[in-house]
Amino acid sequence: MFFHIPLLFLLSFSGFFGGATSLGINYGQIGNNLPSPDKVLDMLTALRITKVRIYDTNPQVLSAFANSKVEIIVTVENEMLAQLMDPQQALRWVTTRIKPYVPATRITGIAVGNEVFTDDDMTLMETLVPAMLSIHTALTQLGLDSSIKISTPSSLAVLQESYPPSAGCFKPEITGIMSQFLQFLSTTKSPFWINAYPYFAYKDDPNSVPLEYVLFNPNPGMIDPFTRLHYDNMLYAQADAVLFAMAKMGFGGIEVRISETGWPSKGDPNETGANVENAANYNRNLLRRQMANEGTPLRPNLRLEIYLFALFNENLKPGPTSERNYGLYQPDGTMAYNVGLSSFKGTSSSSSSSSSSSFSPSSISLSSSAPTNPKGATMGYYQSLVYWMFVYLLTYQVFMRRPMYN
Ligand SMILES: *[C@@H]1O[C@H](CO)[C@@H](O)[C@H](O)[C@H]1NC(C)=O
Repeated sequence: MFFHIPLLFLLSFSGFFGGATSLGINYGQIGNNLPSPDKVLDMLTALRITKVRIYDTNPQVLSAFANSKVEIIVTVENEMLAQLMDPQQALRWVTTRIKPYVPATRITGIAVGNEVFTDDDMTLMETLVPAMLSIHTALTQLGLDSSIKISTPSSLAVLQESYPPSAGCFKPEITGIMSQFLQFLSTTKSPFWINAYPYFAYKDDPNSVPLEYVLFNPNPGMIDPFTRLHYDNMLYAQADAVLFAMAKMGFGGIEVRISETGWPSKGDPNETGANVENAANYNRNLLRRQMANEGTPLRPNLRLEIYLFALFNENLKPGPTSERNYGLYQPDGTMAYNVGLSSFKGTSSSSSSSSSSSFSPSSISLSSSAPTNPKGATMGYYQSLVYWMFVYLLTYQVFMRRPMYN
């Protein structure tokens, strides 16, 4: 039953992903009905998805993915961070969890914790950089530091301001540790990973956040009043807000990558916007942008790397209904909804589902106003010389069309 993806569909999809060399997907496994890792590998291979992130170091996945083209980012669970501050423990962890699987399994990254900066446990944050340093030392000792990058995915809640993008700045209470973290990323040439969900902004304030703007649908967008850059979608604005936040702390050269983004196809009645039509639109539009190798307005020549969330619907995830419905696929390998490929590729009816007929553009108008900050924060008018200096420096980089990296 797992391989009953209609052939036409599969062909469309594989061609689709085939063009998007940087596209990754998050392979969460909080379900009791998910296919085995070797079946998942077959599926990813058919779809030509070659980048995956898992939320642990599941030996079954790491073994099953050996000798495949799939690159994997593994995760150190938050509970492990305190222990891995100890260099000996870190060495033991890398020796037993990573070393046995490489190079046959292409482990390219280690996510040290997930959303540590915004975890309820405030002491967790203190363990982050020491744990990263110990793991990095262990990788170096084992000769793996050049092939495996270390970072941590953060939620957008690390930002105090995210709108307009040039106002992006980190929350004051985390800047001490954030500074150490950014120094680590800069030194090791590792990316900043952000879990960014425009869906949350829409859900929290559907009356003032324009749906078309968060869905990447055609809309007038907004212009950042400081940089004059035009944004036609919220995800890129969020990515650039992170770039500005880092630049304000003196780290203008770190790459931002989207470690998670997605849209739930189902939600509770109070989860506005969580439905099949929006999920299909969001992911379809995002895939289209990825195929075009797009960067953000601030980094137009650097393709924005994105990991979709998620591969499967996960039936054992706690929380609101949406949490169990982010998957592009059902556990049996059928698509959770039509990502819009049939219409995008001009193929037809065999793939039509209950949802595919509802892809007509939404009638919600954008004309009333520019998008507002979902958190309701007022636009900060930075007057300081320092601020204008780095706005100048960043826009200079844009106009010179020269990435700031390396
Ligand atoms: C939303 O609705 C669910 C049940 O449908 C309820 O458990 C939850 O508390 C509600 N959340 C809010 C923020 O009102």
